[in-house]
Amino acid sequence: MAGKVFFSVSMSLDGFIASAPAGIADGHSLARMAQWMELQQWIFPQRFFRENLKLGEGGEEGRENDIVRETFERTGANVMGKRMFDLGEQAWPEEPPFHTPVFVVTHEKRDPWERLGGTTFHFVNDGIEPALDQAREAAGDRDVRIAGGGQTILEYVNAGLIDEFTIALSPVLFGSGIRLFEGVDAGRVALEPVRAEPTQRVTHLTYAVRER
Ligand SMILES: NC(=O)c1ccc[n+]([C@@H]2O[C@H](COP(=O)([O-])OP(=O)(O)OC[C@H]3O[C@@H](n4cnc5c(N)ncnc54)[C@H](OP(=O)(O)O)[C@@H]3O)[C@@H](O)[C@H]2O)c1
Repeated sequence: MAGKVFFSVSMSLDGFIASAPAGIADGHSLARMAQWMELQQWIFPQRFFRENLKLGEGGEEGRENDIVRETFERTGANVMGKRMFDLGEQAWPEEPPFHTPVFVVTHEKRDPWERLGGTTFHFVNDGIEPALDQAREAAGDRDVRIAGGGQTILEYVNAGLIDEFTIALSPVLFGSGIRLFEGVDAGRVALEPVRAEPTQRVTHLTYAVRER
């Protein structure tokens, strides 16, 4: 049976998943980094996240660690936009945290880039649907994660191709930046609550997506 197509992101309470890109933001890059750390503060102490990124031994092993691990384990292939890839290309270690094929939706033509640990980046030039077809094929029975960023997630939402998503709602306000649902086709998308899990740090909200 084919898997689901989902995304899972951390979002500020006012609806942003990232600060504005460099050059557009008012603040400098250190301020943007501080905002990013606040947004993602729930994930850094988690043991699975730390081990996967080789950040060091130990870490928390509660429900949030299970959420990180379950999200990783259900994912058989990732899809991402070129801006997320560009940022990650500078930041990810030699062994990136995906350990699956990753399909990068882009206008740029580039040969596949094989990294350690089972992550190969494939650059797809003919749009979101062919990228998803390739990801489904690669994922087999497992799910396809639309990893980000905002523009790419929105394209999949508006095309009716997302089955489910989870938001880690962080207690931080951005005021400006990349708003997750900016430009959503609200007339098309209906949401069905699946789960809400509050923790000390964030609230994990899961929704199934239905067509109106
Ligand atoms: N909060 C979270 O959990 C989370 C998770 C993931 C990412 N993020 C953040 O999201 C930000 C990036 O998001 P973003 O919205 O700026 O960009 P994005 O979705 O990562 O990438 C957009 C780019 O992908 C390419 N692209 C997208 N759709 C395409 C199509 N149909 N055909 C061809 N190319 C296509 C285009 O690049 P080219 O034209 O150059 O090829 C486009 O400019 C980063 O700041 C990242 O940190 C946050």
